[in-house]
Amino acid sequence: MAIYIPEDKVSEIRHAADIVEIVSESVSLRRAGKNLVGLCPFHAEKTPSFTVSPDKQIFYCFGCGAGGNVFSFVMKQDGAAFADAARALARRYGVDLPEKPLSGRDQKRISEQDALFGVNRAAAEFFHHTLLRQESAAPAREYLQRRGLTLETLSAFQLGYAPKGWDHLLGFLTRKRFPPPLLEKAGLVVARKDGSGFYDRFRDRVIFPIWDEQSRVVGFGGRVMDDSTPKYLNSPETPVYVKRRILYGLHRAKEACRAEGTVYIVEGYLDLIALHQHGILNAAATLGTALSPEHIRSLARFAGHLVLVYDSDEAGIRSAQRCIDIFWKEHVDFRRGDVFREDQADTHILVLPEGHDPDSFVFQQGADEFRRYARTDQKSIVSFLMDSAVRKHGLSTEGKIRIVSDLQAPLSAINDSVARALYVQQLSERIGVPETAILAKLREPAAASATRGVPDSAAGRSDTEAIEPSVRMEQRIISMMLQFPEIISEVVTSNILALFTHDELKAAGEAVIRFRLQSTDQLPELLEQMEDGPVKRCTAFLAIGDEAWTLKGCKSMLARFVETRQKQGAGRSIQKAIETAEREQNEPEVLRLLSEKQKMAVRREKQKMFVLRKK
Ligand code: GTP
Ligand code: MN
Repeated sequence: MAIYIPEDKVSEIRHAADIVEIVSESVSLRRAGKNLVGLCPFHAEKTPSFTVSPDKQIFYCFGCGAGGNVFSFVMKQDGAAFADAARALARRYGVDLPEKPLSGRDQKRISEQDALFGVNRAAAEFFHHTLLRQESAAPAREYLQRRGLTLETLSAFQLGYAPKGWDHLLGFLTRKRFPPPLLEKAGLVVARKDGSGFYDRFRDRVIFPIWDEQSRVVGFGGRVMDDSTPKYLNSPETPVYVKRRILYGLHRAKEACRAEGTVYIVEGYLDLIALHQHGILNAAATLGTALSPEHIRSLARFAGHLVLVYDSDEAGIRSAQRCIDIFWKEHVDFRRGDVFREDQADTHILVLPEGHDPDSFVFQQGADEFRRYARTDQKSIVSFLMDSAVRKHGLSTEGKIRIVSDLQAPLSAINDSVARALYVQQLSERIGVPETAILAKLREPAAASATRGVPDSAAGRSDTEAIEPSVRMEQRIISMMLQFPEIISEVVTSNILALFTHDELKAAGEAVIRFRLQSTDQLPELLEQMEDGPVKRCTAFLAIGDEAWTLKGCKSMLARFVETRQKQGAGRSIQKAIETAEREQNEPEVLRLLSEKQKMAVRREKQKMFVLRKK
């Protein structure tokens, strides 16, 4: 029966479990000040940046950004869901779990999912059995053999065959008492238009079952064995097959991704299977779906280095552009304030030699050559876009103009000012256009089509240099709230977060306030309640620090923050308004604004006093 774990039990487990003990089983830790450090188990590294705080019972990796409490650690390490991690820890620390039934609605949802997994598993077994045993599957066996797949591979990936005819699977599954509406919901059969029943979706095709991370069958792909179209037929989206989340082959790749620190992301079923058969296990396939933020997030749990493998420049360019948009939302914004290291978003593009996809490449040249080629030919996303633009437009005057214009949006989207400056320099040297001219171009509003997905503030931004120190200040305020919770009430009364400009930091602050953090003992619980994502990573990062805060120091910092923010923000806009009114010789307006400015200064003084009181 599906169950969930009551809150008080979760808290009991949290208190019973010791993060140092759990982490030590897989990571060798040594002391560094108040914290312990070791080599991160979630990404490949040579110098330890994985940090555990025994006092706070939390961890954070300065290399890959992974962080959280003991539950997050077990979830990440085992690729487990929260309830499973909690159950494992409960068993280990002797906490009894009286398991309480789910609410009616959750019960229904979960039993529907279980039913879908069940019918999918039965169908996968039917297809696989048919492929291996049935006379009618001889052409399918020959086809797969021609494609070089071994028997071992057929069984590892449970490849199958859907026979010719309209109701083989339907008949098999109904005899097993699966109701036809469930088969339809799973996408295995299709309702006849005249309402007279159902027919098999997959007919006379080689079948590839698709799994989720927990190795449950969620859907299928079926390939024709000749040149007819469509080449592939896939299951529709269902409650268990959500295409933007599923990566084909990931259930078999997790360990290898972790061990290598790298994952190859390929497009097709056979690309993945071919790599696997050649011993390259750290790969996953998107199956013709565009790479999504969910895909990236899910892979980043296992490897810090993502290599997107494409068979053509065009596919690569489309995907690179998309990645930049995704990273803008996922990571890059963080890097503005140095919250995270550059290699957080360590994504490269590898375009295979003309005429090859990963499948044909490994079969012709072998695994070592694939690895060697991947090493020498992968390019960072921006370098890749630069090279493709140069190849496409050439280095004539006209070509150079087009190149700069193609790169305007991607370069503007990089929020890390140092990274952006380096790329601008690289482009300038490459095509012989002065850096100042490129920078000027980046300041222009981009053409509408090129900025799709990139927020305006990125495309039109002119000076991030001015932003950085102030973001650092916001960062310090959040670390202060986390490490010195005594100050939180002050942050609330003075409404400090309202002055924040950095969305994630603001969200982190709001989460801390909502949680009513009282002491650092509660940090593990706070992190546990946060959803995985940028805000949580940022919170873990700021929580693990150990600064010696004093009440007095904190208060004067808040006062300084309020002061600079108000000077910057309100002062700047009112000053602009005054200048405009003067230019328009609108005397009454000028006078009104001047008195407003005066009032503002007084208010600011008062607020400062308020923050400093009780000093
Ligand atoms: P092979 O020809 O079998 O080697 O397939 P491939 O993976 O090399 O094909 P391709 O590069 O054309 O396509 C990559 C992936 O996109 C495939 O593995 C499928 O997941 C998907 N795809 C390709 N063609 C179709 C199609 O006609 N329909 C659908 N739904 N998906 C397709
Ligand atoms: Mn192929």
